Amino acid sequence: MKKKYIVTPWEVSGEIDYDKLIEEFGLKKIDDKLIDRIKEHTGELHPLIKRKFFFAHRDLDWILDEYEKGNKFFLYTGRGPSGDTHLGHLVPWILTKWLQDKFDVELWFQMTDDEKFYFKEDLSIEDTNSFAYDNALDVIALGFKENKTYIFSDFDYARTLYREAAKVAKKLNFSTVRAVFGLDESSNVGKIFFTCMQSVPAFLPSIKYGKNIPCLIPHAVDQDPHFRISRDILPKLGFYKPASIQSMFLPGLLKGGKMSSSIKESAIFISDSDNEVDKKIKNAFTGGRDTLKEQKEKGGRPEICMVFNYFNVLFMWDDKELNEIKERCKSGGILCGECKKILSERVKKFLNEHRKKREDAKKKLNKFILKD
Ligand code: TRP
Repeated sequence: MKKKYIVTPWEVSGEIDYDKLIEEFGLKKIDDKLIDRIKEHTGELHPLIKRKFFFAHRDLDWILDEYEKGNKFFLYTGRGPSGDTHLGHLVPWILTKWLQDKFDVELWFQMTDDEKFYFKEDLSIEDTNSFAYDNALDVIALGFKENKTYIFSDFDYARTLYREAAKVAKKLNFSTVRAVFGLDESSNVGKIFFTCMQSVPAFLPSIKYGKNIPCLIPHAVDQDPHFRISRDILPKLGFYKPASIQSMFLPGLLKGGKMSSSIKESAIFISDSDNEVDKKIKNAFTGGRDTLKEQKEKGGRPEICMVFNYFNVLFMWDDKELNEIKERCKSGGILCGECKKILSERVKKFLNEHRKKREDAKKKLNKFILKD
């Protein structure tokens, strides 16, 4: 049977079967036992974990073993700066911030402006490099610790990064890159080399501090192929395999597919005005019925509703409230228009507050940036 979805670092489309993806990629499920173990350390659970939006991992149990022995890990995540940030991008960062708070650990944040230059035909180095600093404001706005967070552009931290990337490159064959990423003879050689750069932050702190430090990478699941390579190569260089936790994609507002920068109506951008937010949410795909009468009789379908999805992932973190609205929907007691209004108000409030913090971040940007 033909697969109905594609998940690679360069393309995500179709209706994703996350259980199948776990099998295909060789990931482990984040099960209730592991969730309980996280809770032992954090006291409470983040909704993104409790609701299993972060659904899979590699070696998270090992990270906790080491942590319990007093061997702290560091966090590593990143962003391919190819344009404005939207809500979908924030999801892994929001959990990363929570993990930094709860475990009191460093975050190393990579801006892959080189990657986006290689992969986006119409973007120049100046474009992706300036997006890197613009997007960094969205990261800082989420409240990462100033003295424990390092953000760097691949171009502007290249003297440090390139030296380490060369070590990875020397151990990595073209045939592996081709098999993992599906590149071919016609791919530009920047694309082939790039994955080496994405491996570097997984061991850079170990170099800096002169001792092996475990690394935990929170990321959306499409990035896993890169870290499969890191896990293969890093032990050959004398480092630990990086551990990781994988999130699903925030679905777009329209039917099917993730929130995507290329389909503007499907995504809510940080820069969207109140009016745009209202308009986009008004057009969102819901689980409502064709007629009012039918909906009152049969009820709505939260399982397929994008508005409910947004409540679930980002905008209704109170379990009781979420359950209540779900039940009211299913019994026909609340209609789509009302849910959309609730979501709209919450999104606008979030964005307005975020944009304020983003302005403040401009003043402290250089406290977070590494350059050489
Ligand atoms: N390649 C990623 C992207 O296009 C950016 C990235 C670099 C990243 N390092 C990472 C993402 C580590 C997650 C974790 O978005």
